[in-house]
Amino acid sequence: MSSATAAEEIDEAKERQHFRAVVTAFKYYKLCSLDRIQKSEKIISILPTNHQRRLEKYKTYLAKFKKCLDVNNSVVHLIIKDVDTMFENVDHTVTDTSGTNGTESFGCNYNNCEIASQKQHKMQHDVEKVQSVLKNIVRDWSDMGATEREQCYKPVLDEMEERFPLEEYSDRTQVRVLVPGAGLGRLAWEIAARGYTCQGNEFSLFMLFASNFILNRCNEINKYTVHPWLHQYVNNVTCEHQLLPARFPDVCPAGNRPNPNFSMTAGDFLKVYTEADEWSCVATCFFIDCAPNVIEFIERIYTILQPGGFWINLGPLLYHYSDMPTENSIEPPYDILLEIIRDIGFDILKEQTGVKTKYAQNPNSMMQHEYDSVFFVCRKPYCM
Ligand SMILES: C[S@@+](CC[C@H](N)C(=O)[O-])C[C@H]1O[C@@H](n2cnc3c(N)ncnc32)[C@H](O)[C@@H]1O
Repeated sequence: MSSATAAEEIDEAKERQHFRAVVTAFKYYKLCSLDRIQKSEKIISILPTNHQRRLEKYKTYLAKFKKCLDVNNSVVHLIIKDVDTMFENVDHTVTDTSGTNGTESFGCNYNNCEIASQKQHKMQHDVEKVQSVLKNIVRDWSDMGATEREQCYKPVLDEMEERFPLEEYSDRTQVRVLVPGAGLGRLAWEIAARGYTCQGNEFSLFMLFASNFILNRCNEINKYTVHPWLHQYVNNVTCEHQLLPARFPDVCPAGNRPNPNFSMTAGDFLKVYTEADEWSCVATCFFIDCAPNVIEFIERIYTILQPGGFWINLGPLLYHYSDMPTENSIEPPYDILLEIIRDIGFDILKEQTGVKTKYAQNPNSMMQHEYDSVFFVCRKPYCM
């Protein structure tokens, strides 16, 4: 076996392991989330009796939380129902040496040893990602997320109409748009719905599993319900707010496919897209700050755009890798970033700061995160 083949095999084994770990997190969503409800119940049960009496009403809500958890869990199960066949030519079977019949033993109540507690911590972290997928469903595919989409996606869609007017581009399928970091795919779907050829790209399996379900299996408007804020125990004005249901999908993505020129790819943007001069437009929304080194993203966007192609961007500079001790994150502020964008070769056609945007926010929460995002439009010149 050549060393390249061995390395490839190790990579594939790691990928399979990661795939199974994500599936396991979806499977343990209910158990881990139930643990949190039971923790509150247990705390109440050891309070002085008069305090317990004062919390009687809250206790009845905790019982309701469990019913809502079941509702969420049924969606979670639908999401992972057919993920084993989701990627072509990929076998996710893991050789089982654990004696657990293929599923890792990730119960939320562990023996008190260090490895078990590390595993429990990782599982808790992964289950939080499942919980945040539920909030992303609201952002992208429910009526409740309409205001957020208006803030975040409409400026990008309007800009596309302006840059590729119908009079000039009567056959919009010739306009090839890439949306890296597509999340649950709504922006990419909206672009395709307007007639452009659009590909969304995403590397998180949590997101990919959910977008696969929504884009390929949801063929009836508002057929499903989730309780997206169920796991937010703080900053609630009323218990009802924590229990609030959201129906989805608000449109029918699988039933009436916008056009055949819509696709999603799975994988790291920097690995998947290497070919020069391929795209008419790259649209990034809440994405460029997802790289340890943002310059790599900008250089790659420049490379893959056709000469004359546009890069439309909206979002903050949260720099997701900033506080990770193991990552070499670099966090240039916006003014420096603009200099870098120009230096790479882009013409900046439009730029605006202070664009009010939210990301998967609970509208009733006492705490609201709002970004003063930046919006800009750049063009790769025809010749350098
Ligand atoms: C903050 S979310 C934004 C999602 C979506 N654009 C939206 O506005 O709702 C960023 C997304 O980019 C994805 N992502 C981050 N780095 C990526 C990479 N190198 N390749 C592909 N996707 C990536 C993340 O998994 C995440 O789903």
